[in-house]
Amino acid sequence: MAVTVDALLSLSKRRGFVFQSSEIYGGLNGCWDYGPLGVELLRNIKDAWWKAMTYRENIEGIDASILMHPRTWEASGHLAQFSDPMIDNKSSKARYRADTLIEEHIAKLQKKGKTDQADAIQKKLDLCQEPKDYHTIIIDEEITDPVSGTKEWTDVRYFNLMFKTFVGPVETDSNTVYLRPETAQGIFVNFKNVMESSRQKPPFGIAQIGKSFRNEINTKNFLFRTREFEQMEMQYFIEPGTEAEQFEYWREQRWNWFLQYGMKPEVLRLKPHEKLAHYAAAAVDIEYLFPFGWGEIEGIHSRTDYDLKQHQEFSGKKLEYVNTANGERFVPYVIETAAGASRSFMAFLCNAYDEEEVEGENGKTEKRVVLRFHPKLAPVKAAIFPLTNKDGLPEKAQPLYQDLLNSFRVQYDVSGSIGKRYRRQDEIGTPFCITIDNDSLNDNAATIRARDTMLQERIPMENIKSYLLDKLG
Ligand code: GAP
Repeated sequence: MAVTVDALLSLSKRRGFVFQSSEIYGGLNGCWDYGPLGVELLRNIKDAWWKAMTYRENIEGIDASILMHPRTWEASGHLAQFSDPMIDNKSSKARYRADTLIEEHIAKLQKKGKTDQADAIQKKLDLCQEPKDYHTIIIDEEITDPVSGTKEWTDVRYFNLMFKTFVGPVETDSNTVYLRPETAQGIFVNFKNVMESSRQKPPFGIAQIGKSFRNEINTKNFLFRTREFEQMEMQYFIEPGTEAEQFEYWREQRWNWFLQYGMKPEVLRLKPHEKLAHYAAAAVDIEYLFPFGWGEIEGIHSRTDYDLKQHQEFSGKKLEYVNTANGERFVPYVIETAAGASRSFMAFLCNAYDEEEVEGENGKTEKRVVLRFHPKLAPVKAAIFPLTNKDGLPEKAQPLYQDLLNSFRVQYDVSGSIGKRYRRQDEIGTPFCITIDNDSLNDNAATIRARDTMLQERIPMENIKSYLLDKLG
């Protein structure tokens, strides 16, 4: 069942997955807050990634600081190159990313069936390198401002996406620092520290999960493109010459990870980069079919020795591996896996969303909204329902609830009919609902109902924990 961004937004707010940042003040564009269920889902995604990546012999984790020495960004190229082409409309005063404006124009042509024209513009867009290249397309194609409808465009200029701030009380150029726009650089600058302290040698990896910041111009589509977001990145340091096989290995690993956590194969695709950075040997994106179209959720990049060599040059420190047995030394090549935690969150939410017609309590059909999360990702693992709030049923249900809370995130719900309680849990993706009824007082068993099949089974209460542990892995 395809979900719309509006349906996701509404469910997210209603059930406490995601709220607009500082909503009571009207919100802050491109920033979102994770609510009680959202924070669980996000943590579960990050935990699943962390385990898949670092529970290995040769991958170490780190947590580097968000503020880094400003030379980092000179070395990485972000100060000079991390920018988007911008254009202003003189009548509406609206500012756009020039490439997005052209992409939207292409999409409109495609919708009208003018595919040849659309393809020709796409080719020109792929070749754009300088501001004037984008400007020429916008003028030649007579692209109009979506707000004012006019063609009164300024020149195209580059706009750096890094957020600037100052360390200490004086706001001078020499005190300027940047909020990191990617977690990767925290890994590169710690390459030697990690290799030496953990006695690793290539091939080995360093993994990190953390916040990154980009002053994005267009922040639409909910969590897809935000100004503050979380990344899950791993840099794998390898011997030069092994990059082709390592690239294939990591591409497969990362693709399988999404499938393992329940992504449907038909909403995932691999998209090789058409334009490679001058230092890159290969690059491919894992894309998800969002309600607004295909969008990247992770990039796998073969980056040669570019990053370590840049940091070597700018820091004056050797960043190489030396084999003490034979004296051989080299600057490792790098395979990078760069995923967005928040973007993956949105993809997993879209992927889980389903609506279906089911028979309601009164025998009539009703709509059931169900989030079919993989049990490991589901924010709440089980819900406990005493059939009624009397007759000793709460007293029977509470000890089970308290016991399960030691191991899982579990909810306790006594209000409304059982059917209504099922729907509430389905809508947040809880895999199991456990009902304690009057028979439970005699047979000491409870009914467990599975979210996806809606099938019920009767289980002795003392076996419920091990049943859940087994099903939730
Ligand atoms: N170190 C490489 C790097 O940062 P990237 O393709 O720019 O590569 C990696 O980012 C991932 O980070 C993307 O695939 C996406 O999931 C996520 N990401 C990037 N910009 C984002 C944004 N503005 N909002 C949310 N997620 C973003």
